[in-house]
Amino acid sequence: MHLSLNEEQTMIQQAARDFATREVMPLARELDLSSRWPTELVKRLGELGLMGVAIPSELGGAGADNVSYALAIEEVSRACASTGVIMSVNNSLVCDPIYKFGNDAQKKEFLTPLASGKKLGCFGLTEPASGSDASHMETVAEKSGDHYVLNGSKNWITNGPHADLVVVFVATSKTLGSKGVSAFIVPKGTPGFTPQKPDHKLGIHAAQSCTIYFENCKVPVSARLGEEGEGFKIAMNTLDGGRIGIAAQAIGIARSAYEEALAYAKERKSFGSPIADKQAIQFMLADMATEIEAARLLVMRAASMKDKKVRHTSESATAKLFASEMATRVTHKALQIHGGYGYSTEYNVERHYRDARITEIYEGTSEIMRLVIASNTLKA
Ligand code: CAA
Repeated sequence: MHLSLNEEQTMIQQAARDFATREVMPLARELDLSSRWPTELVKRLGELGLMGVAIPSELGGAGADNVSYALAIEEVSRACASTGVIMSVNNSLVCDPIYKFGNDAQKKEFLTPLASGKKLGCFGLTEPASGSDASHMETVAEKSGDHYVLNGSKNWITNGPHADLVVVFVATSKTLGSKGVSAFIVPKGTPGFTPQKPDHKLGIHAAQSCTIYFENCKVPVSARLGEEGEGFKIAMNTLDGGRIGIAAQAIGIARSAYEEALAYAKERKSFGSPIADKQAIQFMLADMATEIEAARLLVMRAASMKDKKVRHTSESATAKLFASEMATRVTHKALQIHGGYGYSTEYNVERHYRDARITEIYEGTSEIMRLVIASNTLKA
């Protein structure tokens, strides 16, 4: 088993690292404190080919693989977790399903501008009364001749306040359960499609999310992604990829916290020597480094399975479960190593601690990841 990266993967990792270190990192604290949407960084992500990393170049993407994509998400998230998830949603949750399930006209109209960063997308699955139980939805689409009429609402929609379109999942039949769900591409400006004000959140402040209302929102039949009733499988298949992105985001956050804790431990003196000389601190740093490496291996496995087009539902869930809980543990230790300073906004570590927490919740909670892993294990 070869664990080394190939030339293209190394190049993309390095390019993402350079961009993130030079352009993203200097803005991260201000973005967090002001909850400002990073317009300039979203534009740069597009210019650098980071909005459609694994989409073929003839469709506007960078034409790279999913391993490269995960490495790029890690680098950007290391600099700013908010920018990382904006990128992850556009790549994994919007470009990927249109690439896999869209027809030629949808790819031309929507995918090419999304993958090249000229447009931004969001993904509408969660509703006020259903998050984990994703097939149980209240938002409906009624067919009438050559169009559907959508009514309902979706919430916690990352990128929602700024997106040019949403890939939204709605019930076209309320009696068929998961087989009654269909997916639609709804562009901003469609009458009856109204994004609300950004949500207030514990972390990832700059990655604005919101509720979106659909009130008698009329879309043509040609806006449907895939066949009627295929929507739930499209959503689940999409999340198999999305969870790789969130796991990579978690690694980026953890790495940042670890690197800052390591530097601080070398500088900060107590009882006459740097705290890095104390075994209690060394053990924490060793555990942090080990867990980050372990999470990355899980992410690389899931991403390379996706590249080989092998079903990776369980491997993605495993990577996300471990990486997100690891990020919580690592950022907790990093804050502890910083002592009182870690609790202050003077240092970045409190931001990493807050940002890490969402990775255990969005794109499937840790509890849902355990259910997915268990159900696949029991089937095997
Ligand atoms: N790929 C393809 N098909 C799949 C699949 C997958 N990964 N997982 C399930 N399916 C299929 C099943 O095979 C089944 O098909 P058949 O009926 O033909 O056999 C069908 O889908 C229904 O499957 P289940 O019975 O397993 O479905 P369920 O209702 O029990 O739900 C679940 C399963 C895993 C709990 C699912 O609802 C789930 O993943 N919930 C979490 C939702 C989630 O992750 N939400 C995140 C929102 S997006 C977000 O967070 C974005 C953001 O802000 C960044």
